[in-house]
Amino acid sequence: MTNPSSYLFAGSGSKDFKEYLKSKDLTKNKVFILVDSNTKKCCLDKLISDFTELQNADTVLIRSGEQYKTLETCQTIWKNLTENYAERSDLMINLGGGVVTDIGGFAASVYKRGIPFCNVPTSLLGMIDASVGGKTGVDFMGLKNTIGLFAPAEKTFIDIDYLQTLPREQLNSGYSELLKIALVASKPLWEELQSFEYRDIVSKPDIIYAAVMLKDTIVKQDPREKNIRKVLNFGHTIGHAIESYSIAHGKNPLLHGDAVAIGMICETWISNKVCGLPETIMQEIIDMIIASSGKYKLNIEKAEVLRMIRNDKKNSSSKINFTLLNGIGDACIDQHFSEELIFEALSYYFYL
Ligand SMILES: NC(=O)c1ccc[n+]([C@@H]2O[C@H](COP(=O)([O-])OP(=O)(O)OC[C@H]3O[C@@H](n4cnc5c(N)ncnc54)[C@H](O)[C@@H]3O)[C@@H](O)[C@H]2O)c1
Repeated sequence: MTNPSSYLFAGSGSKDFKEYLKSKDLTKNKVFILVDSNTKKCCLDKLISDFTELQNADTVLIRSGEQYKTLETCQTIWKNLTENYAERSDLMINLGGGVVTDIGGFAASVYKRGIPFCNVPTSLLGMIDASVGGKTGVDFMGLKNTIGLFAPAEKTFIDIDYLQTLPREQLNSGYSELLKIALVASKPLWEELQSFEYRDIVSKPDIIYAAVMLKDTIVKQDPREKNIRKVLNFGHTIGHAIESYSIAHGKNPLLHGDAVAIGMICETWISNKVCGLPETIMQEIIDMIIASSGKYKLNIEKAEVLRMIRNDKKNSSSKINFTLLNGIGDACIDQHFSEELIFEALSYYFYL
């Protein structure tokens, strides 16, 4: 589904990305650059000055934030493409964080049964996670990523200079997914993450590269998430429900990675109860997550969160499906246990 050459790591004016754009014959074909209000302000000029062949591209603007990752926003994109006579030979470039790459990939894949797209992720979360692995989609009826499809980008171009303008809280949010990939797949990466101050990640291209390759290796073995890819869902069963709850109820909804951080803490605690994850390792993991994401005051109605968990698309045969940890770098998929334990895990977080 993907191959290593789908991911281009480089800075300004990358030769490989130039080659890719050249292959698109931009004298004949149009380019649409999808941005949100922030990436329009902070990233669009850089992309166009790095790749002057894009200077005549059309810009498609959407509002920023998870609450706009919806079918309504897709309609804005499709309307824009239609009014500008987009054709199947044209190209869409998704320039932004995970919201832009998720919605842009989905909108491009179904427009006229699919126009090619590539990703230029600009947030940490976008670089190491959302733009890797071909999952695209939108939220629906307040539930995360309910409508979507597997549709890999033709290329994902990763230039960590974009992180220079990323707000601190967004960096922290992305860092949670970096911790996750280490927790489920690589003890050496986890140890490396412990060796520096997390904010310095903006100058650690090697770590970002390692995280992308770890995820890509997992995705290649199981593109449709039938087995091993499920390890990447660690923290997300509870995390997605908390994120959906907070979008439905909060004026300042939790960021994706922050909800995942809460989910990972709860699911680490459950791992101790269900998989025998040793207490000392549990504490090490929780301390590390809190060091970058902080601790949130959880103001939730547990029963409603549980209803959302029951609606999670990862469930099967009416069973809630969890990925837990046996140890660091050692995840176990398809775990089921009583709903009581989910309540207790949320209480554990509450009183931490
Ligand atoms: N497809 C997948 O496999 C996958 C995996 C993980 C997460 N996701 C999705 O990713 C989304 C979260 O991604 P995110 O955290 O990047 O959110 P986001 O796209 O909303 O970006 C976060 C914020 O940072 C701004 N921003 C992005 N890059 C910037 C830059 N360089 N300078 C200044 N501002 C910038 C954005 O405008 C936005 O306000 C969620 O919807 C989540 O479901 C998808």
